Amino acid sequence: MTQTLTLRRPDDWHLHLRDGAMLKAVLPDTARDFARAIIMPNLVPPVVTAADAAAYRDRIRAALPEGADFTPLMTLYLTETTDPADVVAAHAEGLVTAVKLYPAGATTNSDSGVRDMRKVQPVFEAMAEAGIPLCVHGEVTRPEIDIFDREAVFIEEVLDPIRTRTPGLRVVMEHITTADACAYLRDGGETLGATITTHHLMINRNHILVGGIRPHYYCLPVAKRERHREALVDLATSGFDRVFLGTDSAPHTQANKETACGCAGIYSAPVTMPCLAQVFEDAGALDRLEAFASLNGPAFYGMAPNAGTMTLEKGEPLEIPAPLATGDGPVIVFDPGRPVLWRVVG
Ligand code: DOR
Ligand code: ZN
Repeated sequence: MTQTLTLRRPDDWHLHLRDGAMLKAVLPDTARDFARAIIMPNLVPPVVTAADAAAYRDRIRAALPEGADFTPLMTLYLTETTDPADVVAAHAEGLVTAVKLYPAGATTNSDSGVRDMRKVQPVFEAMAEAGIPLCVHGEVTRPEIDIFDREAVFIEEVLDPIRTRTPGLRVVMEHITTADACAYLRDGGETLGATITTHHLMINRNHILVGGIRPHYYCLPVAKRERHREALVDLATSGFDRVFLGTDSAPHTQANKETACGCAGIYSAPVTMPCLAQVFEDAGALDRLEAFASLNGPAFYGMAPNAGTMTLEKGEPLEIPAPLATGDGPVIVFDPGRPVLWRVVG
């Protein structure tokens, strides 16, 4: 008998859609499987003001395929000159769901991010008061800190102090990659949530570096040791309710990945749900996939879960889709390098 799994339609609580030709090409892959997604604001130039967010939301809506059922949840890119009143007003009118903190220099298009956290303390306080979540790219950028330690150091030196001096601030630790982050989340109380990507549940740093350098596995935060991946799988599949899916699906063209200084980012949107079903099945936790992908995220953000459903079926190994053609060049789709026996059928 064919094994099937039906869950509430999932959401993606961390997604890069880009703009222009790239947006047009990648949006259908997300809209097919996900009802809502938190849209990252790291465009060039970034989505900084409420007016920027409204214009970007309209471009996303215009790029949706006919008949798609997909709602973009917009974010603002926090800068040292962000006006707390603009943020609060944009949230109050329903235009903006969250604010994104990039430490300056931490990742793709983060140059306008925050250098001195004290400068944005008034924004944090206004957000705590209004109940606006802060989505955090949690890596320090000091050159002397090893790239594999940047998340753990950030928690201790930056994140914990922000939370201590801003009681009530709701924080999402995005794309966590370490056992340290898992432990901090578990002890963090009800104002603290975290997302985990599909790829960080499936690859460790060996995938990037053993047998040749594999740029399509390179992202930020970079994948860590196997013991960290195992901690992420344990957390995601445990039923813990403040952790949820954020794919961080981040398309870059093949040319921008396969070069001497390749961009960080993994394009996983088209295969995420089959991959996750495989991860959860391997962990003996298929019954907990719905909580991770469809229930915990809306609960943290104070929204209702989606009414619709998604059905997956187990069968022959999934074929990884051919590179996605975009007006900017092909984009390679995430290949976890092991059989994935699930596919989305409805
Ligand atoms: O791998 C990543 N890609 N990590 C990020 O934080 C940014 C993203 C991107 O925008 O390409
Ligand atoms: Zn991201």
